[in-house]
Amino acid sequence: MKDGKIIIFDTTLRDGEQSPGASLNITEKLEIARQLAVLGVDVIEAGFPISSPGDFEAVKTVAKSIRGPVICGLARAIEKDIDAAYNAVKFSARPRIHVFLATSKIHMKYKLKKAEDEILRLAVASVKYAKSKCQDVEFSPEDASRTESAFLHKVVESVIDAGATTVNIPDTVGYSTPFEFAAIIKGLKENVPNIDKCVISVHCHNDLGLSVSNSLAAVINGARQVECTMNGLGERAGNASLEEIVMAIKTRPDIFSGANTSINTKELYKTSRLVSKLTGMMVQPNKAIIGSNAFAHESGIHQDGVLKERITYEIMKPEDVGFESTNLVLGKHSGRHAFTERLKKLGFELTREQTEKAFDRFKVLADKKKEIFDEDLETIVEEEISKIPEKFHLVHFHISSGDQVKPTATIELKFKNKALKAVSTGDGPVDACYKAIDKITGAKGKLMDYQIRSVTSGKDALGEVSVKIESKGRVVSGRGASTDIIEASIKAYINAANKLVYEK
Ligand code: KIV
Ligand code: ZN
Repeated sequence: MKDGKIIIFDTTLRDGEQSPGASLNITEKLEIARQLAVLGVDVIEAGFPISSPGDFEAVKTVAKSIRGPVICGLARAIEKDIDAAYNAVKFSARPRIHVFLATSKIHMKYKLKKAEDEILRLAVASVKYAKSKCQDVEFSPEDASRTESAFLHKVVESVIDAGATTVNIPDTVGYSTPFEFAAIIKGLKENVPNIDKCVISVHCHNDLGLSVSNSLAAVINGARQVECTMNGLGERAGNASLEEIVMAIKTRPDIFSGANTSINTKELYKTSRLVSKLTGMMVQPNKAIIGSNAFAHESGIHQDGVLKERITYEIMKPEDVGFESTNLVLGKHSGRHAFTERLKKLGFELTREQTEKAFDRFKVLADKKKEIFDEDLETIVEEEISKIPEKFHLVHFHISSGDQVKPTATIELKFKNKALKAVSTGDGPVDACYKAIDKITGAKGKLMDYQIRSVTSGKDALGEVSVKIESKGRVVSGRGASTDIIEASIKAYINAANKLVYEK
């Protein structure tokens, strides 16, 4: 690429969604896609349309609604997959079909049970078929990093001749290492005569923790598109993390020969929070770039150094990735004006009704908690602007618990303007509450995951609970926040129950 631009291909909605338990409904996919467009990604892989009617609809909705990025749909090298991918992405102003077919000996022998000749024929035929529908066609030789180089070169040369405009080299099982992966890219440039007619892309998984290093080694050696996900979500150990790739390129132009991306890095933190909230996958505190400790200096020597001169211990500015410094912003006496101004500064655009509701919650919180920080505001506002209709709404709860008594919960929910009440015992107070809620909603949800974290520090901090529930083969996540962790747990469970009702 002439100007050193690296194309950021985001696959959070496809490979990221393949993370165990991270499934997203159409509304959630659309919300993330909107934010990815604001973030400035070049390509959004919105899903795998043939995989389910829901995914087909999600890709179609994203293609219809999002303008700016290319919208891509994944397909196996099969005509019905390619048809589904095209029928979903064709509504985009910039549609792309992404066809994949495994080329490694292991996959050809055990998974596909096909010989090299047949694979080559299928790869070419599928790219030609996709090209007959869409100008922008990407081909991935799956498990490329374990494919014999001569065969990989032959496949790549043939699919480019067949019309592929991007050739993506996946390290499907996260097996490669930076020098080896760099050599694969170099090998393509040296041995595939028509390689300049396509964009070389890379797609690395993180099984050995090397996905970002492998992707960056490829960039140094000529890859011009990187496939990645927000927060590094993805199959098994995940994909290369978008925020790490982008900030490495931005922070080290000396190493990446002036390469650049069109990502608005100030949107990284917000995007990360949204993805974490909607997938129910919390971000570890020490996660590079967007983890809550990423810019926290604990040791006295470091703090002293940063106070004297920031660059002693900080290689990036927290503001550059969208972290506002943690401010004590508001308290009990703050008015509506200060509240709305602060929300605007945090990047929230709320309707009048949402602002009123969020302000009421802020007042309740301010009564319980002396100091309100930006993180507290973000948490309550994000709950208020949730796109999932609140069919079940918590009216009241009461628990009795202790080491000498059987934990018992009474829960009252509102559903279609009717108050519904149930009582249940359980192994603990949260279990009792969840059983009482199940009695009301009638959902026999299995709790797959329960996580709790404090939003800020201090004994009066907001607790944020994240749950995953499985019901009839569908996994949904839910979140809730309160200064009372039982209330936060109840809200998270009700949030998940509302998603189940919504999706039904
Ligand atoms: O990891 C992989 O090989 C993939 C392909 C579909 C590109 O996700
Ligand atoms: Zn993958």
